[in-house]
Amino acid sequence: MIVGAQWGDEGKGKIVDLLAQHSDVVCRYQGGPNAGHTIIVDGETFKIRQIPSGVISGKVSVLGAGCVVDPQVFLEEVDELESRGVATDVVRLSGNAHLVMPWHVAIDQASERRLGQLQIGTTRRGIGPAYSDKASRIGIRVQDVLDPKILRQKIEVALAEKNVWLERVYEVEPFSLEEVADRYEAHAQRLRPYVADTSLLVDQALRDGKFVLFEGAQGTLLDLDHGTYPFVTSSNPVAGAAATGIGIGPNRLDSIIGVAKAYVTRVGEGPLPSEIPPPQQQQVRELGGEFGTVTGRERRCGWLDLVALRYAARVNGLTSLALTKLDVLSAFAELPVCVRYLLPDGSETADFPAHQSDFHHCRPVYETLAGWEEPLDTCDSLESLPAAARRYVEFVEESLDVEVSLIGTGAERERVLSPRGLETVARP
Ligand code: IMP
Repeated sequence: MIVGAQWGDEGKGKIVDLLAQHSDVVCRYQGGPNAGHTIIVDGETFKIRQIPSGVISGKVSVLGAGCVVDPQVFLEEVDELESRGVATDVVRLSGNAHLVMPWHVAIDQASERRLGQLQIGTTRRGIGPAYSDKASRIGIRVQDVLDPKILRQKIEVALAEKNVWLERVYEVEPFSLEEVADRYEAHAQRLRPYVADTSLLVDQALRDGKFVLFEGAQGTLLDLDHGTYPFVTSSNPVAGAAATGIGIGPNRLDSIIGVAKAYVTRVGEGPLPSEIPPPQQQQVRELGGEFGTVTGRERRCGWLDLVALRYAARVNGLTSLALTKLDVLSAFAELPVCVRYLLPDGSETADFPAHQSDFHHCRPVYETLAGWEEPLDTCDSLESLPAAARRYVEFVEESLDVEVSLIGTGAERERVLSPRGLETVARP
């Protein structure tokens, strides 16, 4: 199980892609087209948002019940992948997953505009409104595409209410029932072959002794329950949600790998205690290519925050850590690492604050480690890393009491060091 240990964009796509080579099934259990995975294979870049990244390696790729699926985005990705020679007949969609409909996207956009300065900074892909409708039990599910009559009826019922909201509350254009119904009936026909009982499929695969990889989207601190609410996404990226999001027992998870950058980034609003002051932040952003896959927005960059990472280790039960983009730090002579927070009452804590006001007003307490100031291009083992880089990795392990099982030193699939061997990590 791969889970984002920070605010998303930790480089999970690449780690999943790597471990997918040793897996039989790859599953997404939450989130929707707000996720952006960048995978580089043989110099070719794939950016996918909705379909699990395992598809690139031809693995059975599951979107579980906990996901939301935008049919338009899904089908565009299918077309793009097929046109580039990647087969999509390995993709399976849970009938219980909810659909992101055009009104969800419109409401997400209108709601953010209305919030103005108080906006969440969402990806504006309709994620929050789709999960809200799911919780309110008025959502449209993937399985509804199996029956054209039911689909049309549900679209009609939903639009009767959503159009009132759009026109009267948000003062934007309503949708035409005929136009939406016709478009989604056409989408439905194309979605049907992908619909499957994915809980049964994954259970069967596990019973057959197959290796199943769960890929979390977003990250721990964007979790609806355990993240920095309200600046979070509307689903649960944490590891425990893989069981509910797929429909398997929690005892089926053998290994939980948190993915964290060697620094931190965040897109959207909300506190980021270790945010780097402007000139150096710009440098990290440029070196790390820190611009959103989905929205193209600049990511805010900070020094590694071990308080937040220790929290991620706790709420996910991390069994090991993948530390990505270590090479980006090669440019710096000194590397501050946040080890504690200074709280407004003057006390210091190494534990993530339980109360949001403490987190919003805390200041980072740094320990400064020596940089290595040399490229990591030629490093092909832990031993070949510069001593200061090894020390950086050890410092993380000691602070979290979690082993670092994978180290990213560059963008390509090959540029990941695995001190214990990839096979051992991928097949626990
Ligand atoms: P939403 O998921 O579009 O509702 O956005 C809610 C928050 O989650 C915003 O701060 C987004 O920037 C953030 N977010 C959503 N998906 C991702 C992701 O894949 N990577 C990083 N941040 C994300």
